[in-house]
Parts: sequence; C-alpha cells; structure tokens
Amino acid sequence: MNFEQLYADRAQCMKTSAVREFFKLTEQPDVMSFAGGFPSADFFPMEKVTEVLRDLIAEEGKFALQYGPTEGNLELRQYLAEKMTREGSPCTAEHIIITNGSQQGMDLISKVFVNPGDVVIVEEPGYVGGLGAIYNYEADRISIPVDDDGIRVDLLAARLRKLHSEGRTPKFIYLVPNFQNPTGCTMNLARRIKMLALAREYNFLIVEDNPYGEIRFEGQAVQSMRSMDTDGRVIYLGSFSKTFSPGIRVGWMLAEPELIQKVACAKGSTDLCSNSLGQRMAYRFAASGYIELHVSSLISRYKARRDLMLSCMEKNFPADVTWTHPKGGFFIWVTLPDGMTARQLLLKSIERKVAFVDGAGFFVNGKGENTARFSFSEAAPDKIIEGIAILGEIMQAEMVAYKKEKTA
Ligand SMILES: Cc1ncc(COP(=O)(O)O)c(C=O)c1O
Repeated sequence: MNFEQLYADRAQCMKTSAVREFFKLTEQPDVMSFAGGFPSADFFPMEKVTEVLRDLIAEEGKFALQYGPTEGNLELRQYLAEKMTREGSPCTAEHIIITNGSQQGMDLISKVFVNPGDVVIVEEPGYVGGLGAIYNYEADRISIPVDDDGIRVDLLAARLRKLHSEGRTPKFIYLVPNFQNPTGCTMNLARRIKMLALAREYNFLIVEDNPYGEIRFEGQAVQSMRSMDTDGRVIYLGSFSKTFSPGIRVGWMLAEPELIQKVACAKGSTDLCSNSLGQRMAYRFAASGYIELHVSSLISRYKARRDLMLSCMEKNFPADVTWTHPKGGFFIWVTLPDGMTARQLLLKSIERKVAFVDGAGFFVNGKGENTARFSFSEAAPDKIIEGIAILGEIMQAEMVAYKKEKTA
C-alpha cells in the first residue's frame, strides 16, 4: 500500500523529531541518561496514590471509570480556578478546560488558530513538543533567541516591525517563561510586561506554558503574563505532570470562556474527554492539600540534584564550555565553543553509556549544533557523579583535538 500518495498535505509536516528518535538510544537500561525530561519515578508518592485510588474506587468508581464532560471534571475545574485565582489570575471554572497533559493544550490551540502558512513565533531554542504541535498545522515558525532572562523582546520587536511591513502578523507566540525547556532560563518581569505590550500593539495571542513554575529552588516567583493580562489574550497552560505524575495525563488550559468553548469542540472530536480516573485522582491529591507537601519535598530533592550536577560540571567540564544555572525546573543548557558539535560528543558518550540530548533539535532554523540539554531530574546522584565525570573526560579530549584543528 502506498500511503505517501494518500496523505493529507499537513501529514507531510508530521515527522518524529530527531530528539525523540535519539531518546530510544539513550533510554536503554544500562545507560546513565541525562536526556529525558522525565520526573524522577523515585519521587512518585506511591503510598498516597495507593490510598487515594482505593478510596476513589470505593466511593466514586462508577464515575471514575466512565466518560466525563469534554471540558473536564467540574470539581477539578473549580479547584484549579481557585488555585489560579489565588496565584493572581482571577477566573471561574468556565475559564478552565482539562486536557490530556499540557501537550494536548498545545495541539488544540494550534488546531483552533493555525491556518497553513500562518506565522507563529517560538523560542530559540524551544520545547520540542510545542514546536512539533505548531508545525503539524503547517505554521510558519519564526524563532527569536532566548538568553538568561528569557526571550529577547528587543529582537522580537524588530522582527514584528519587519513582519508588519510585509503585511504579516503572528497568530500567537509560544513561550515557556519559567525554567524553560530546554535552557532552564526564566523570563524576567520587564520582558513579560514588554511582551504583553507587543502582543497588544500587533494583536497576537500569548501561549504561556508553565509546567515547571512550581518547581522553584530559590528566588521569588515572577508574575505570570496571564495575571497581568487585561484583554484575555494570554492562554495559560498548566500540568500535573511534573508536580504529581505525567502518567495520569492531566493538564489544564486557562483562557476566556468563549475560547474554552471553541477548544472544547476541537477536543471533543479528538478524544471525547480526558482521563476520568486521572482527573479524579488529581483532584483528591490536590484538594486534600497533600500536593503542597509533595511539591515542597520535590523542590528540595530536585534542588539537591541540580546542585550536584552543577558542581560536577564545574569540576569536570573544560573551561571553554559554559552552562546555565537554572533556579528551578529540570534542565541545564550547555554551550560548547563555536565549531564543536554536540552530536559528535553524544556519539562518543553513548559508547561509554552516558547520554544527554544534543541541542540542534530545539531549533527550527538549523542552528544550535554546539549546544546540549542536560536533565538533572531523573538520574540518581551516583549516576550524576559518574556520568558527568565520564563526559568531562570525553570533552577534555575533544577539546584538545578541536584546538589542534583550529590552530592547524
Ligand atoms: C515545556 C513543556 N510543555 C509541555 C510539556 C508536556 O507536558 P504534559 O505531560 O503536561 O503534556 C512538557 C513536557 O516535558 C514541557 O517540557
């Protein structure tokens, strides 16, 4: 059967990303992996989940195993509306739709807003899953560089002016403002304010994807763009994946009720409803207040891993290599000297059973060959110590060869 000739045009864009393909290699059991952005399975609250599930099935099993409303379980939506209101974004359950993780939120936003060829602004580098969802709907993705303080709004402003002069306006910008995947960087307040002003000036939407915001190790939380939004143009995505479990597939979207209704129509034809059991588990886990205790214990455990990875990098990596110092989340972004390629380093390190992700897959414009993402969330401390030491050795050797080549 020749499927190629039958595929819709949009299916041409649907390709597995290089990053995901490589995961298959890196996630083998004997590999010390800093590749996946997974939460640590050692930190799942197994006992609490056992208790929650037992009570849930006894008390409301008939509903937990049944279809539910497309918008999601009402109690959970009300809980989330109260949480978001407490965090500075006043809203009601009508502003919330439950999604199968925030990944589905990205897909639904793209489905609802993107026509083929529409401009969507993304971060450079940006989160692969978000970039892919946007691409699947045939958007023209334009990327704007990120530095330690988040996306460069000055460069964005210049790009918007240029686009405007060509008669083009982006439909939306996709941002991960807190402890970004992949760089770990956080957008500062001044840039968030400027971003809102640019969105108003050029009339585009802001998609604020915040799965890591609660995993903050130090410093004050920066106000969300949604909390400063005065005209409903910020669509906020939240998730229980990093604060509880990604396996339950429960995330949420906060937006104006009119948009939530449109998204619900799009979602209905995709999956009818999100996971009923997962939603009720998340509700019990969160509404009992247990989640706060759990998140504060996660923060101290992930912080210990971040501190360890940073100090191992300091000890083992060559002087010409630089990396970010994230104040939360799961990721450290490493930059090699120009001209060195992270893919080559990765091929060598895989031979010695150590893995990370080379950075090129997080760019939509072919850049980033000398960058790499390291996740400190999943690997146990002894693996961090051993794996980073091995990488340091490989890097030192590569660096000698690189310098020789440069001076030759
Ligand atoms: C920035 C970002 N957004 C969204 C997701 C998807 O999360 P979820 O499990 O809620 O779909 C991830 C997962 O790694 C992520 O890093």
